[in-house]
Amino acid sequence: MQDLFSRKINYLRLSVTGRCNFGCAYCSGGRGDCPRSDELSVDEIRGIVRAAASLGCTKVRLTGGEPLIRHDIAEICRTVMNVPGVKKLCLTTNGYYLSRHAGILRDAGVSCVNISLDTADDERFYKITGRRALGDVLSGIDAALASGFDRVKINAVLLHGVNDDVKSVRDLASLTERYPVDLRFIELMPSRLIGESYGRSFVSADLVFESLPGLERSETPEDAEGVAEMYRIPGAPGRVGIISPMSACFCHRCSRIRVLSDGRVRPCLLRNTEYDLRGLSYEDTVAVLRKAVLMKPLNYGEEIGTGAAQCEMKRIGG
Ligand code: GTP
Ligand code: 5AD
Ligand code: SF4
Repeated sequence: MQDLFSRKINYLRLSVTGRCNFGCAYCSGGRGDCPRSDELSVDEIRGIVRAAASLGCTKVRLTGGEPLIRHDIAEICRTVMNVPGVKKLCLTTNGYYLSRHAGILRDAGVSCVNISLDTADDERFYKITGRRALGDVLSGIDAALASGFDRVKINAVLLHGVNDDVKSVRDLASLTERYPVDLRFIELMPSRLIGESYGRSFVSADLVFESLPGLERSETPEDAEGVAEMYRIPGAPGRVGIISPMSACFCHRCSRIRVLSDGRVRPCLLRNTEYDLRGLSYEDTVAVLRKAVLMKPLNYGEEIGTGAAQCEMKRIGG
């Protein structure tokens, strides 16, 4: 369906858990998980996806927290793919369990995976995630590439003083010279848990161009619907992307609606408005989702700069 600004909303992001085995500072503040008891059941997920599909959502992305922490993730994927109207199922993961799960996800109908990886350096990986698990994530990327997904993307959040030096940016970008992946550098977005350190940690994505002179523009029609601008290191099989929600907001082409791990629908990632979908009949679920689409703001607005928006990325799913 269309929102009040004539944007076509056809992409449902569904956070299936607010738990994660990593503790990335920019996401959870290194602190705890949301309660498992709040998570949506497979039946609740089926109902919400049916309702969203009836309003025209043809693409679904499962996020978290870490979606692969759920033991029923394959069943969730099959359930979502069986909903009439759903054409494309994607999943965003930290990659830790992917070496075991990649084939299972592919068989369950997932066509694209996005893997979070902010550094190619062991010590920095530990500093960012709190886990010594770089090798596991790299194995996960290998497994994803071997499993025949349509596309494998890597997400790297830029953090000042942690991974924004020229060598770090080049080391990450060089993954695109080795693998046919889309490596996207992402500007840090504010969250309640980052709080006051946000200003000290934020780096504009322009830095990527300074570190990687010679990037060539490389856009497909599909990219026009996404949030990244895509480039290529000449001759590389993979591509380098820039996601700059803060310095060049892409809200005018937003196509998304979000359902959070506790069953609330959120019209905009960076605004605090939410509506509960739990316990509603199918008709009421459709009605509340419709209301959420109509409540989508034109953009995230000024208030996030003042810290008024308090998002917790694990529950929201990014
Ligand atoms: P595809 O376009 O399907 O590859 O997915 P995606 O890039 O939207 O998904 P992913 O989960 O990999 O998110 C990549 C980054 O973009 C994360 O940092 C998200 O938080 C951010 N992002 C995704 N959607 C939005 C959005 O609507 N607004 C803003 N500001 N950021 C978003
Ligand atoms: N700013 C930007 N991106 C973030 N992510 C999580 N928290 C933030 C933040 N504060 C990213 C993760 C993951 C995606 C779903 O969202 O790196 O790749
Ligand atoms: Fe876990 Fe992803 Fe959040 Fe890191 S960014 S703590 S991997 S959900």
